[in-house]
Amino acid sequence: MNAPAKTDDFVVAETPAQVQAKIPDGVYAETVLAVEHYTDRLFRFRMTRPAGFRFRSGEFAMIGLMVGEKPVYRAYSIASPAWDEELEFFSIKVPDGPLTSHLQMIKPGDTVLMRKKPTGTLVLDALTPGKRLYMFSTGTGIAPFASLIRDPETYEKFDEVILTHTCRDVAELKYGFDLMEEIRNHEFLAELVGDKLKHYPTVTREDFKYRGRITDLIENGKLFSDLGVPALDPAVDRGMICGSTAMLKDTKDLLEKAGLVEGSNNKPGEFVIERAFVG
Ligand SMILES: Cc1cc2nc3c(=O)[nH]c(=O)nc-3n(C[C@H](O)[C@H](O)[C@H](O)COP(=O)(O)OP(=O)(O)OC[C@H]3O[C@@H](n4cnc5c(N)ncnc54)[C@H](O)[C@@H]3O)c2cc1C
Ligand SMILES: NC(=O)c1ccc[n+]([C@@H]2O[C@H](COP(=O)([O-])OP(=O)(O)OC[C@H]3O[C@@H](n4cnc5c(N)ncnc54)[C@H](OP(=O)(O)O)[C@@H]3O)[C@@H](O)[C@H]2O)c1
Repeated sequence: MNAPAKTDDFVVAETPAQVQAKIPDGVYAETVLAVEHYTDRLFRFRMTRPAGFRFRSGEFAMIGLMVGEKPVYRAYSIASPAWDEELEFFSIKVPDGPLTSHLQMIKPGDTVLMRKKPTGTLVLDALTPGKRLYMFSTGTGIAPFASLIRDPETYEKFDEVILTHTCRDVAELKYGFDLMEEIRNHEFLAELVGDKLKHYPTVTREDFKYRGRITDLIENGKLFSDLGVPALDPAVDRGMICGSTAMLKDTKDLLEKAGLVEGSNNKPGEFVIERAFVG
């Protein structure tokens, strides 16, 4: 969204040239292509991908908007896979948030800034080889996995991929359901993914088929019995975790209790973690 320019007695929209003139050097300025609102707290958008911008599925980048004269940036997982010609993001709307109070208003044709260097630990390279890959997410923590479940490399490296997504309410799960539908209908992903991908959505504050925090469902074994898979085994299972700081800690403790060892880009391991937000 481009802030309107103020004159003494009325407000006029800035011209594209005026907006362009303010954009800081050394960042990409991309065009919003589509916006979809899910709830009053969640939306996704797609924008153009800069020529020459490379990233690994699961990484995040700093995206931003000009707010007045200044750019405001925040970390965002890239939700689209590395092969996609466009970039997708899944976003929270924080009331009065320095970035998202403006970002939630973007429309096709608006400009979004992006710093040039993506990074992150939720990448396939940070995991040692295994058979079954668990992706544990809460809230917007599903974003990096939206990228990875649409990347053919995930299915080359793993026989089975399990995406868990836990939110407070059913309405907040919709992005995950849409992703599954998109994969099922996709011209080449549908066949490649086949029945290797399992989606396990749960909610904590409403009635639903699957209820409870993922940590409780791991501890009481319901996750495994619902999916018909054995309990966590470091010989075959690998994990990726993305959620709040508390969720990361509690899930990490359970994976460690099961004998899995944390990895990183420099030292691949049996599971990796990344915060979905600070706080
Ligand atoms: C590595 C990393 C990747 C991230 N990826 C995403 C992403 O893909 N999508 C996304 O929406 N956000 C993501 N975030 C959070 C994002 O950077 C911003 O915090 C968010 O966009 C809100 O920005 P803001 O300026 O409006 O408010 P901020 O001042 O940044 O946040 C204000 C408060 O809102 C809450 N909050 C912030 N982000 C979230 C969130 N995502 N879910 C729930 N509560 C939140 C926290 O309590 C925070 O203290 C990521 C953060 C990190 C560290
Ligand atoms: N979601 C909303 O409707 C809503 C509305 C207004 C404001 N907010 C604020 O926005 C912020 C983020 O909310 P959010 O709903 O996106 O994220 P969140 O509070 O992290 O909750 C997302 C999901 O993760 C679960 N969870 C929380 N802590 C966990 C842990 N330690 N281990 C395992 N699972 C855990 C939650 O279960 P529980 O339900 O059991 O906590 C919930 O199902 C919070 O500060 C919140 O107060 C949220």
